Amino acid sequence: MTAAPAAPFLVAASLSGRADADWARAASDHVDCAVMGGIALDPASRDAARELVARGRSEFLPDDPLAWLGRQLRATADAPVVPGINVRSATIEPVCKAAAACAERDAICEINAHCRQPELRAVGCGETLLADRDRLAAYVAAAADAGATTSVKVRAEVPGVDLTAVARAVAAAGADWLHVDAMDSEAVVAELTRTAPAGLTVVANNGVRGHDTVAAYAARGADAVSIGRPSTDPQARSRVAEAVAAWRDGRLTGRLEASS
Ligand SMILES: Cc1cc2nc3c(=O)[nH]c(=O)nc-3n(C[C@H](O)[C@H](O)[C@H](O)COP(=O)(O)O)c2cc1C
Repeated sequence: MTAAPAAPFLVAASLSGRADADWARAASDHVDCAVMGGIALDPASRDAARELVARGRSEFLPDDPLAWLGRQLRATADAPVVPGINVRSATIEPVCKAAAACAERDAICEINAHCRQPELRAVGCGETLLADRDRLAAYVAAAADAGATTSVKVRAEVPGVDLTAVARAVAAAGADWLHVDAMDSEAVVAELTRTAPAGLTVVANNGVRGHDTVAAYAARGADAVSIGRPSTDPQARSRVAEAVAAWRDGRLTGRLEASS
């Protein structure tokens, strides 16, 4: 099991086609954990990723995704950051293999129940897993059984999805982290941290840019925050890292009260 950073901590969140070992190493001067990928693992998710590339999106599409994953983990082994890999798959077997590779390298295995592109949804990947809790729980159980610290990346504001029920299901299946893209709804983080099973680390994501946004998620009970788009910008990373350090040291208290 990975030595996860002590809360509160800062995560660099996946950016498909960009978040590789070089990205993680560059971010490691400010973040505690860097979740690389997302990487499509199986033929159906890879076909979907090819369709995304065909319409101009940036994707990782190596010949052998598990070999790629191993290379990113080896290349971050000496970096001062907990590595992670965000995985997409329409089938469970590649998730087991990816999680075993993550476990071997003390890396976080993050199940992607987040991406909303129609191509990925059409093959049962990304946010479709939020409405297919049994399959999502099976992926989580497989990753946890492989010995990996397991994160589930979810998105708020998906019609018909009860995220508190998703949180309960993935925690029961062995998830360690719930990585929540709150979209425009910081309140969802408060609801999840209020109802989340004990031991589930809630990482709040979306719009984290500095003191006020870190304080807003801290006030809503998050254990950690993550940055996606700002992860490639050293100044933005530094600003958020300083806010997280203030949170850790108790120096965000006034802002917590102001924003609660
Ligand atoms: C270009 C791009 C690619 C992304 N790829 C992934 C991905 O592969 N897996 C994933 O879970 N989230 C992915 N995300 C979502 C981000 O990790 C993050 O949740 C989102 O950008 C909101 O956080 P931010 O406001 O800090 O950018 C992607 C976002 C962008 C902009």
